[in-house]
Amino acid sequence: MKKKYGSVQIFFHWAVFILIVVAYAAMELKGFATRGGSLRAQLLTIHYTAGVSVLLLMLFRMVVKGFSTAPDIVPEPPQWQLFFAKLIHVILYIMFIGLPLLGVLSLYFGGKEWTFVSYVMPISDAPNGRLQLVLKNLHELIANTGYFIIGLHALAALFHHYVVRDNTLIRMLPGREKIPLENSGQNK
Ligand code: HEM
Ligand code: HEM
Repeated sequence: MKKKYGSVQIFFHWAVFILIVVAYAAMELKGFATRGGSLRAQLLTIHYTAGVSVLLLMLFRMVVKGFSTAPDIVPEPPQWQLFFAKLIHVILYIMFIGLPLLGVLSLYFGGKEWTFVSYVMPISDAPNGRLQLVLKNLHELIANTGYFIIGLHALAALFHHYVVRDNTLIRMLPGREKIPLENSGQNK
């Protein structure tokens, strides 16, 4: 049984983490930029680009997950902890696919031109202000809930690492698996 997640899963876990930080940070910083200014527009483009990238990478991660098995945690935590960890993972997938999707749809029905990287994205021929507002409000609600879910997920990982002292976090960190001394050839 492998001791760590595959390198592709580890790479994309942390890539998505960085993109999510960028998406949140762009929105937080937007509050300090003057309305109608170019900095505000740039922060919005960064937000959209990071957000759409999260959507694409989360879909890719879901496919990769379908073809892999999670490495065992040693020592094995109680069943209820494994259950809640899995539940939070499912919630994270639903949230970080649904959240950017709602953002994209709100811009689609808003009818205002926007870009992903530098590609001009399609918008509706018949903008619908009410639908756009509903989608935007839902997007903002899920985004703000996201802080707590990510916080819970990260705290659980740190708790396992520093308090329980099992390998939960190590399994998701880059770097080679440690080879036990008896198998490394150093004791020959
Ligand atoms: C990981 C992905 C994303 C995260 C974490 C995220 C997070 C956020 C946050 C925190 C806000 C502000 C909420 C508030 O003011 O209460 C926001 C607003 C918004 N987001 Fe996102 N978002 C993501 C993806 C996207 C995507 C892909 C789009 C569209 C392409 C998008 C479009 C918007 C829009 C239009 C607003 C409202 C902006 C405004 O009122 O000026 N978001 N998002
Ligand atoms: C400081 C932040 C974070 C830490 C310390 C962290 C840590 C971890 C650890 C240790 C695991 C393996 C847990 C296990 O197998 O039971 C894991 C898995 C996972 N994490 Fe995070 N994580 C963080 C942020 C995020 C964020 C922002 C997301 C949002 C998408 C996320 C989504 C997931 C998912 C979906 C899994 C399940 C494995 C997979 O499908 O790739 N994590 N994380």
